[in-house]
Amino acid sequence: MTRIAVFISGRGSNLQALIDARNRGDLAGDIGVVVSSRTGAPGLERARRAGLDHCVVDAADYASREAFDAELDRVVNQAGCSLICLAGFMRILTPGFVEAWRDRILNIHPALLPAFPGTACHRRVLEGGVKITGCTVHFVRPQVDAGPIIAQAAVPVLPGDDEKSLADRVLVAEHRIYPLALNLVLQGRVRVIEERVVVDAPVRADDMLANPVP
Ligand code: GRF
Repeated sequence: MTRIAVFISGRGSNLQALIDARNRGDLAGDIGVVVSSRTGAPGLERARRAGLDHCVVDAADYASREAFDAELDRVVNQAGCSLICLAGFMRILTPGFVEAWRDRILNIHPALLPAFPGTACHRRVLEGGVKITGCTVHFVRPQVDAGPIIAQAAVPVLPGDDEKSLADRVLVAEHRIYPLALNLVLQGRVRVIEERVVVDAPVRADDMLANPVP
């Protein structure tokens, strides 16, 4: 069974979604280790409660980004993991690390990439008057929030939304699509062809999310 390393920096609610899927028997792999870039990240407590191996790799303890990433690589290999899920991991991985793990690192981003990459995307969505946003699971490339898209979910922006209410609504969708996308990868149903993902999974063409509703 494929072992997955989950990299976090904070709250770890997406980690929790993966843990919940695993505990329900709905994950086609196992979580081998949880790595936090921050001491005291609440996600570490989730890992502990789930009985998962976990550790902190703090960039401040390493002389360079390369040395930090070398330690991440060591931890992941030592845990016998062959796939990495970034789940609110707030460090930018070096191109060397990303290339070494090409098509084996997934990330979740709270917007419909390639729109709104980077931080504070909900604020920018609201400022832009966008009516539909969402979330994206993608393979990681050296450029931040770029890479072949595995799965996306659309979420409406509602009148009166602020950053918090919008983030909360998008987060519900994140928790649904991260385990879904990870399972597709674990089941070998995802191929990257010319930097686009071809996924062997049911899709519906007759569905529409419109805002406002017709
Ligand atoms: C999520 O919104 C995720 O999309 C983004 O960072 C946030 C992490 O939240 N990359 P959590 O730590 O998983 O609760």
